[in-house]
Amino acid sequence: MKNVGFIGWRGMVGSVLMQRMIQEHDFDGINAIFFSTSQAGQSAPEFAGKTGVLQDANDIDALKALDIIVTCQGGDYTSSIYPQLRDAGWQGYWIDAASTLRMKDDALIILDPVNRANIDLALDKGIKTFVGGNCTVSLMLMSLGGLFAADLVDWVSVSTYQAASGGGARHMRELLTQMGMLHADVAKELANPHSSILDIEQKVTAKMRDGSLPTDNFGVPLAGSLIPWIDKQLDNGQSREEWKGQAETNKILGTSQIIPVDGLCVRIGALRCHSQAFTIKLKKDIAIPEIENLLAAHNDWVKVIPNDRELSMKELTPAAVTGTLSTPVGRLRKLNMGPEYLSAFTVGDQLLWGAAEPLRRMLRILR
Ligand code: HSE
Repeated sequence: MKNVGFIGWRGMVGSVLMQRMIQEHDFDGINAIFFSTSQAGQSAPEFAGKTGVLQDANDIDALKALDIIVTCQGGDYTSSIYPQLRDAGWQGYWIDAASTLRMKDDALIILDPVNRANIDLALDKGIKTFVGGNCTVSLMLMSLGGLFAADLVDWVSVSTYQAASGGGARHMRELLTQMGMLHADVAKELANPHSSILDIEQKVTAKMRDGSLPTDNFGVPLAGSLIPWIDKQLDNGQSREEWKGQAETNKILGTSQIIPVDGLCVRIGALRCHSQAFTIKLKKDIAIPEIENLLAAHNDWVKVIPNDRELSMKELTPAAVTGTLSTPVGRLRKLNMGPEYLSAFTVGDQLLWGAAEPLRRMLRILR
């Protein structure tokens, strides 16, 4: 049995990973060892059906004894520990949720329903570092994988509708707190059906602007609003999140010629599902039923939602998809720009296929 160390298992992505591993009985085939950056020596969790104590996540010698390390601890941990471990000659497998190592030549971005062949090639070549992709990229490829696999995509333009969870647990709390405060401010008037909705709106807007909402994490109010910028500002005018779209998509697919992917990434007040609206320039005009077949056949999780009002409202929303592994795609239709221009809308749980699930499955491949 392989010795597998878990770091960052208590955080939000780590907790989702633990839940999924328990559901899939993944602990059965491994010797799981839990680490902590701050609570070494305390009791380890009993997910794996055994007791033990937490090891020190900064103890290079303890980490060196592992066959596989799975970390959801974040980029700072990876930046500090990974080079030390490799410099010390550690030859084990490093599976990481953080973006730090994603674009390194000796690391592969993992999304096995999309790039299992590349994962197998990388393993044959001796690659030992496997990193989960950016959530919007992974969720796009889970939903639109059939078009990429059939080499039908000329370019992709995207507008995202990204959930608070992409920022982290504190961001989710902040959003909900903002929502509650806005509601509380007008609860009395709302309860009165004869009150003026414009008075209510004015009060809410004033509250949004008076500086009293907590904004430590998002920087500005998100509840009742949106934020058209995610992650750092790059010199070319893109946000870093927007930059990742093309860079990571092409790395995951291992394209020999870059497929342009670009657009606007926007934070909205959803909790943990990222949605994305696409304009896809196809390499040729193919009929919608054929497109639907290609998409549906690509993997076990994508679900084609017919371009129907009722079905789109019921099945193509964060409310419907959150907490599931389903990655539905719908609103498929040809745009006025011409028969090679396709619209699509996708939704996916940012913490499952967007973060934890590819890591869990990579561990399965390795053990
Ligand atoms: N950067 C993403 C977001 C999260 O902020 O929504 C994960 O890849």
